[in-house]
Amino acid sequence: MRQPADQNGQWRASFNFANIIGRSHAINNAIRIAKVAARSSAATLILGESGVGKELFAHAIHNSSKRSDKPFVSINCGAIPRELIEAELFGYVPNAFTGASSKGAAGKFRTADGGTLFLDEVADLSPDAQVKLLRAISTGEIARIGGVSPEKVDVRIICATNKNIQSEVDNSFFREDLYYRLNVFEIRVPPLRERLEDIDEIIKYFIAACGRKIFNLEGGEIHVAPEFTEGLKNYNWPGNVRQLQAVLEREIYHLNGPPYILSHLPDSIINAAPAAAQVGLASAEIKPLKQIEFEMIKAALAKFDWNIEKTVMALQISRATLYRKIAEYKLNKRK
Ligand SMILES: Nc1ncnc2c1ncn2[C@@H]1O[C@H](COP(=O)(O)OP(=O)(O)OP(=O)(O)O)[C@@H](O)[C@H]1O
Ligand SMILES: [Mg+2]
Repeated sequence: MRQPADQNGQWRASFNFANIIGRSHAINNAIRIAKVAARSSAATLILGESGVGKELFAHAIHNSSKRSDKPFVSINCGAIPRELIEAELFGYVPNAFTGASSKGAAGKFRTADGGTLFLDEVADLSPDAQVKLLRAISTGEIARIGGVSPEKVDVRIICATNKNIQSEVDNSFFREDLYYRLNVFEIRVPPLRERLEDIDEIIKYFIAACGRKIFNLEGGEIHVAPEFTEGLKNYNWPGNVRQLQAVLEREIYHLNGPPYILSHLPDSIINAAPAAAQVGLASAEIKPLKQIEFEMIKAALAKFDWNIEKTVMALQISRATLYRKIAEYKLNKRK
């Protein structure tokens, strides 16, 4: 999802709770907590696998909060080089460092003043940046790089990560004190495989949207065979709603109609091994976790011929994490 800014350069959130499709107990529970969080300005941490809708939730919380007419500014902490994140967050005075603009920069905190700052992939923040973020949240003040006096800001923080934050804390990759600051509200967005009953409604919603976009249909003209829905419900959806959306869109592009009927499941879904068979760990040799991580990433990249989208879906990690791991393990296509 891209961060939209309106014509006045104002940062906006585009989605509301009404855009979150699904009525399962699991998603309703997450929505219920998110609605309570929206009534406050307390820090909110959104957890869940890739593609479950964490960003959608962040937008919805902002848009139903009293800050909805103020900026919603998002920053992907995993996608910004470590040495630049501080400048991105807190801004800098003119020419503060080599390569800095002569005009200086306001920084995302100041841009979000009065509104919400969405820190996506927050677990990817460097230890240094974690300290500075903790200080900014605790004091409500930020200092530009190279600046002398700190300034007060009024910013509501929403964070998201698809990492297991508790184990990041346990392994000292993420500061425990910061974690407690960030999770006044903690919302776990359930993976699609835990709410397969929502698939009917998601299919309905996306085929209406795709039908309009692709064939200029008014809605209701695309029909779905029961075995198609059934097949989708038998799959375990490592890429969650994002993957389902992509599968549906691709299938709709392939329709020759009218009549438009979705009946053939893609091979990738039909041929997927049952979840249990993919693991087979009982008799596995015990190895250091880092070694397994390296081997899995290497194998996944080879399997998908370095298709980043497919690799991140299969591994259930973000693109940013994959790129970081590729650099860390010095992987390249020829090896
Ligand atoms: N419950 C839902 N209803 C409708 N659309 C959804 C839902 N959940 C996710 N989506 C759609 O799936 C896509 C992925 O959602 P989103 O970007 O919010 O996921 P995410 O959890 O932030 O993923 P990542 O961890 O990879 O950043 C988006 O196009 C979003 O609109
Ligand atoms: Mg996201």
